[in-house]
Amino acid sequence: MAPLLKRLQAYRNRSLVPPTPAVEGRITRLVGLTLEARGCRAAVGQYCRIEVASDLSVEAEVVGFSQEGIFLMPLDRIDGLQPGARVVPLGGGSKVPVGPGLLGRVLNGAGQPLDGAGPVQAEAWVGLNAGTINPLARQPIHQPLDVGIRAINALLSVGRGQRLGPFAGSGVGKSVLLGMMTRFTEAEIIVVGLIGERGREVKEFIEQSLGKEGLARSVVVASPADDSPLMRLRASELASRLAEYFRDQGKNVLLLMDSLTRYAQAQREIALAVGEPPATKGYPPSVFARLPKLVERAGNGAEGSGSITAFYTVLTEGDDQQDPIADAARAILDGHVVLSRQLAEEGHYPAIDVEASISRAMPHVVNPQHLTQAQQFKQVYSRYLQNRDLISVGAYVQGSDPEIDRAVERMPHFRAFLQQGLNESFDFSESYQGLHQVLSAPPPPPRTAQPPQRPVPPQR
Ligand SMILES: Nc1ncnc2c1ncn2[C@@H]1O[C@H](COP(=O)(O)OP(=O)(O)OP(=O)(O)O)[C@@H](O)[C@H]1O
Ligand SMILES: [Mg+2]
Repeated sequence: MAPLLKRLQAYRNRSLVPPTPAVEGRITRLVGLTLEARGCRAAVGQYCRIEVASDLSVEAEVVGFSQEGIFLMPLDRIDGLQPGARVVPLGGGSKVPVGPGLLGRVLNGAGQPLDGAGPVQAEAWVGLNAGTINPLARQPIHQPLDVGIRAINALLSVGRGQRLGPFAGSGVGKSVLLGMMTRFTEAEIIVVGLIGERGREVKEFIEQSLGKEGLARSVVVASPADDSPLMRLRASELASRLAEYFRDQGKNVLLLMDSLTRYAQAQREIALAVGEPPATKGYPPSVFARLPKLVERAGNGAEGSGSITAFYTVLTEGDDQQDPIADAARAILDGHVVLSRQLAEEGHYPAIDVEASISRAMPHVVNPQHLTQAQQFKQVYSRYLQNRDLISVGAYVQGSDPEIDRAVERMPHFRAFLQQGLNESFDFSESYQGLHQVLSAPPPPPRTAQPPQRPVPPQR
């Protein structure tokens, strides 16, 4: 009897609590990508559910407001949406899955699986923003991270917790370079964000670049070019959030984001759609405010946590290094690896222009001898490039300048050292050994003019 009474009492108590009213709104306007809703209240960053049809609803984020109502940006397609559709605020920001069960999985920007391997095994559901780290609490960068690429390991050494940008025009080899790193790096966890790139490349990247072994220690977040701009933004944020989760677990994470430019373009689409005026090359100011926010999420954590070493690819339109996104990225990243179209056209891969590239953390992560040798390499290499035209037309006379002579003699070794096959991997010490060898290998025997040899008369 007692349990029944208890249950009845519980029901009675519950019925006395008035239900929280869910204030629903209605869609009143659609302009471009933005929806306007009236009748409901929701804060910027919160999510609402829009009932597109009786059996279809789409989530949308509040991206702005006016005196009349709120502006929403849908996460998904809204085909079939009619005026007056119901808008239900969901309260709070969106939650995403995190946990070791995500390794080996391919997700979309909303954290849903794209690989058809069943639901994700989440350890927890967390907000998309992890909160900022006090800059004084961050561990300094002092240890190198082996990325498996000889030219980078030896000449542009990457520190754990460093943020770099491969900068290049279209089709010069950014994605292939990132793919090689995923296979050859020593990082324990790899998080890949494929943002706004071609849909075809997602599968190629997973099957060819990562392979089974690489995928097992990776999480891929993919949002191709035909996703909504909000989905592309969320995918970049989800990739960062996952990297932060693994860093907080003490892991050394390599975060690869392809590309930062597409992230900026997604933000541009949203900002223009809600009426923000364009500033530099059509990019509204909010784009330049969001870039550092994203990039600052990478780096070293506080004592006891791991690191996020990040590569954000930057597309330099028409190989223009002064593109506003490239400019902004160069200022906020800790280094840039410039890929040259000329080298790619010569079949020199990876097409890294060592003269134009820099790793700002290198002095803190390699020994002084390594740093000196990298500088020597760059000096000799630059010397050759400055005089290349003279040398190639035969206007340079050997012996006029011992430094140029040395550069000419070393150049074939240097070129061979900078190139690397798609399936070749060089760890950090091999890369350094290689650098040491190309600098110190004895020069080939001098090509002095020999007197013409007389034919030896046949002996009787
Ligand atoms: N290391 C390499 N070895 C051989 N070929 C390469 C290498 N890197 C790039 N390539 C060639 O260059 C092509 C373009 O490379 P990739 O897709 O990486 O360019 P991208 O810079 O990412 O271009 P986009 O900006 O269009 O995405 C590849 O399909 C491949 O043919
Ligand atoms: Mg690419």
